[in-house]
Amino acid sequence: MSCAEGEGYTGLPFGRAVREKYFQFEPGFRNFNHGGFGATPVPVRRAQEALITTAEAQPTRWFAGGNGSYHAALANVRPRLASLMAANESDLVFLDDASSGLNAVLRSLRWQPDDILLLTTAAYAVLPNTAQWLQQRYGIRTLQVEVHFPATGAETFLDPVRQALEKLAGEASRLRLAVFDHVSSYPPAVLPVEALAKQVKEAAPSALVLLDGAHALGQVPISMTALATAGVDFYVTDGHKWLMAPKGSGALWARPSAQPLLEPAIISSDNAPGTSFQSRFDYIGTRDYTPWCAMGSAMDFRQDVLGGEDRIQSYVTGLARWAGRHMADRLVTETVAPDSMTPGMFALRLPLPEDWTPSQKTACSGLIAQGLIGQYSMQVISFGLHTPASDGREEVTHWIRVSAQVYLERSDFEDLTHAVMSLRAKCTSTQSAIVA
Ligand SMILES: Cc1ncc(COP(=O)(O)O)c(C=O)c1O
Repeated sequence: MSCAEGEGYTGLPFGRAVREKYFQFEPGFRNFNHGGFGATPVPVRRAQEALITTAEAQPTRWFAGGNGSYHAALANVRPRLASLMAANESDLVFLDDASSGLNAVLRSLRWQPDDILLLTTAAYAVLPNTAQWLQQRYGIRTLQVEVHFPATGAETFLDPVRQALEKLAGEASRLRLAVFDHVSSYPPAVLPVEALAKQVKEAAPSALVLLDGAHALGQVPISMTALATAGVDFYVTDGHKWLMAPKGSGALWARPSAQPLLEPAIISSDNAPGTSFQSRFDYIGTRDYTPWCAMGSAMDFRQDVLGGEDRIQSYVTGLARWAGRHMADRLVTETVAPDSMTPGMFALRLPLPEDWTPSQKTACSGLIAQGLIGQYSMQVISFGLHTPASDGREEVTHWIRVSAQVYLERSDFEDLTHAVMSLRAKCTSTQSAIVA
């Protein structure tokens, strides 16, 4: 059943009807991995195509500025994005993606040997990878704070970060940058980002704080005003994930005092020394800027067709929380975070018997993930997690990350539950095929 209908909603009910009318998935395909790469509604793609037509009508006009240029189109999008993020327009620049923004911040800073970069073990792989590069290039140190899942509440993040900061003691002034997810990827959870930023600034006032909000825009409310007050210096987000803008759209916010520190990942022909913050990022070579411009169309679609951010976000979060509980009950297992930390996606532990060997568990988890897409045309993400076992040792547990979205409804998750159940039963019936 769909739980979309509510007061004031005049459009289609969320769920299958929205999927069929506005998205062009393969027939029968159900996308439970919106968090991975997003999905762009047809009207937004059409709007982007119209922008490409404008660009091709007069290429020089499109790139050079003035009426009919992408700069003019961006000037319309920027205030709307600023309003969605409760930010000042002048502090926002557009990007191709969150990876570009994370790289822009991490690789722009003037690192000294032994400077410290603080990350958590929940950070997306771009961060440890770039940290290793910084380590080799500048001799920095990475302090990777271990976070244990399943999460129980804000303390899951706050306690280990506080302990790591306390251990820094006399070296606190060496802490150059601390990076936290706003919404982590896998496992997925909403982090207590304001409290984390405050902890860092109290322990190390000269440190900078970067938030990776790749999954935040369109999934959870963002207030740069509140985050800046808490001590956040940089914020990176994607447009192509939860905002449903075309692939290749993202944004970076920087507090004014930190803007001089930043260069985009690409230094273009328009970026001579002394170029202003926004101009440094606005032109990064001859490329397709329509995804940035079409973020405005994604915002229109969400407002005019889907009923606005509050309606979308409360449906998607409500559906994810319901689905997490439903699947955990039916499959007698657990989710990775409590409701209070669950946004529009959740992770479910695969119900694999404790007495199976690690390789049996890995094989069954692979069979479930492959069977979901191969047999049922359902896309999830599977991943392993180091968690404490009942005997106190660490073991690898197997999980799937499942995204909710306005094109899904409860019955889709009931179908997913049955599919996982029957694939899991196959593991038992084909035990002999599983290499022990
Ligand atoms: C937490 C997080 N940060 C950054 C990224 C990178 O996003 P993109 O590939 O759009 O650059 C991802 C991608 O899934 C992510 O999950």
